[in-house]
Amino acid sequence: MRYALISDIHANRHAFEAALNDIDRANVDMVLCLGDIVGYGPCPVEVMDIAYEHIDVSVLGNHDAVVCNKFSSAYFNPQAKRIIEWTRDSMRESDVDYFNAQAYLIDGDHFKCAHSNFVQPDSFGYVMSPEDAYNNFQAVDDDLLFVGHTHVAGAHVLSKGNHVEWLAADNTSSMIKLQKNKRYLINVGSIGVSRTEVFKANFCIYDSEAKTVEFRVIDFDIDAFLDDIRELDKPEVTNYFSHLL
Ligand SMILES: [Fe+2]
Repeated sequence: MRYALISDIHANRHAFEAALNDIDRANVDMVLCLGDIVGYGPCPVEVMDIAYEHIDVSVLGNHDAVVCNKFSSAYFNPQAKRIIEWTRDSMRESDVDYFNAQAYLIDGDHFKCAHSNFVQPDSFGYVMSPEDAYNNFQAVDDDLLFVGHTHVAGAHVLSKGNHVEWLAADNTSSMIKLQKNKRYLINVGSIGVSRTEVFKANFCIYDSEAKTVEFRVIDFDIDAFLDDIRELDKPEVTNYFSHLL
């Protein structure tokens, strides 16, 4: 099976469409979403409509969880809080129902997915350090784990001797071959809001037969994305992306 693993689309329709075009050509069997379909970005309703058409299974992200009242926006920084409250007000009943029906984990065939972590998935704590990654490996049995949430793509690799190493994904597409005696906690990165120097759409393709995980890094129409922000003319959204405008 070939899986596309996407996360943190964050209401950026141009990045989402560019990623989906790439996924179309990659011959995948399923598109799995690791959450945060909305939040931050200017086009939550449009992105929900694209999500319904293309995502097979999704877990609940912290921004999505605010939309369906399962997580408090009080945990967000003031800027993110204002945007997710506007987003929540923009959502239709069907969008809230969609998020309400989502779980915190995807239990795949010898792999698992969560938005943020496997120790306490509904807490939305970050996996940053080797210690965080080690605690996640202790929490579940599978050798292959996928998360999003930090918006930084790469792999925490657990070797014999309980040593955890972080392999950062580059700003160009790259592939890792999974080895039998190692365990992997892969961060698939973000489709819609990059937190690296290069603003591109990041996601992964996992091939369960070839035992490979490919980090895809895709250009999208940033000017069109910035036009969406200008047209929306919501100060909270404009401020969040002011470094790009
Ligand atoms: Fe998140």
